[in-house]
Amino acid sequence: MIINRVTSVYFSPNGTTKEIVNKVAKGMGDYEIQEIDLTSVESRNIKRNFEKDELLIFGLPVYSDRLPGLSNDIFENIKGNNTPAIAIVSYGNREYGDALLELKDNLIEADMRVISGAAIVAEHCLNKNIATSRPDERDDLKIADYANRIKEKIKNIQTIETLEDIHVKGNYPYHPIKANQIPTGDDKCIECGLCKTNCPVNAIRESNYRLTDSDLCIGCGSCINVCPTGARAIRNEGFIHFIKKLEEIAKERKEIEFFI
Ligand SMILES: Cc1cc2nc3c(=O)[nH]c(=O)nc-3n(C[C@H](O)[C@H](O)[C@H](O)COP(=O)(O)O)c2cc1C
Ligand code: SF4
Ligand code: SF4
Repeated sequence: MIINRVTSVYFSPNGTTKEIVNKVAKGMGDYEIQEIDLTSVESRNIKRNFEKDELLIFGLPVYSDRLPGLSNDIFENIKGNNTPAIAIVSYGNREYGDALLELKDNLIEADMRVISGAAIVAEHCLNKNIATSRPDERDDLKIADYANRIKEKIKNIQTIETLEDIHVKGNYPYHPIKANQIPTGDDKCIECGLCKTNCPVNAIRESNYRLTDSDLCIGCGSCINVCPTGARAIRNEGFIHFIKKLEEIAKERKEIEFFI
């Protein structure tokens, strides 16, 4: 199988999925690398076609054991043509549930051939005490080793059309979707607009940065993390308690899991 280009594709409101996908792409060696960031609405609205001589490294974060709720929107304008793809989910050291299976299924639906999948731990975007600073040096070594395994597999693939589907962890029916937790701003807001600029679904308007369109918000945490004054937060007491409790639930270090 001939690969002429590696393309990293990701949706990454807080930047760790981007970091992971790019590390895998870099590990592929001397290929030309193209990067497609699907985090903004504008980018997801562009129609994109991929050919079978390029390898996609496709990464999404895990939200409550599933892909982010806008996943249909992510795949709407993406079309392969027997394009080889690596499915990657990033998660905050708790569980990735059915997200990797869901990503694999979506890629196949978009006419990609999934040659491998991986679940890789990243710092938890809703509680930075969980998996702090991951992916770290230990992860980097495992990611580099994983990229080498993919290269080896590619070398041995005669034609993409005859390749058998890989198995990844996950179950049918997928885990039920949980309600999004919606952050709002308070009077610490200095109207800098950073939350609006970084929101991946345009759920914050310039007319009032403290409000959030709850029909659009996916609870990604990006506006909370970029706010320089701590004005934006999820204010649901039950959820705050759950996120704190996660420090205990997810304290044991998990390592990269890959399927090849
Ligand atoms: C709404 C929401 C739900 C999440 N659910 C999970 C989960 O089920 N398991 C887990 O380990 N991490 C979970 N996380 C953590 C993210 O998967 C993790 O921080 C991811 O790396 C974020 O990617 P990003 O930096 O590209 O935005 C969740 C984060 C958010 C915002
Ligand atoms: S990032 Fe914070 S301070 Fe800036 S506009 Fe948004 S809520 Fe206000
Ligand atoms: S408003 Fe919702 S979707 Fe937008 S950045 Fe904040 S948490 Fe993410």
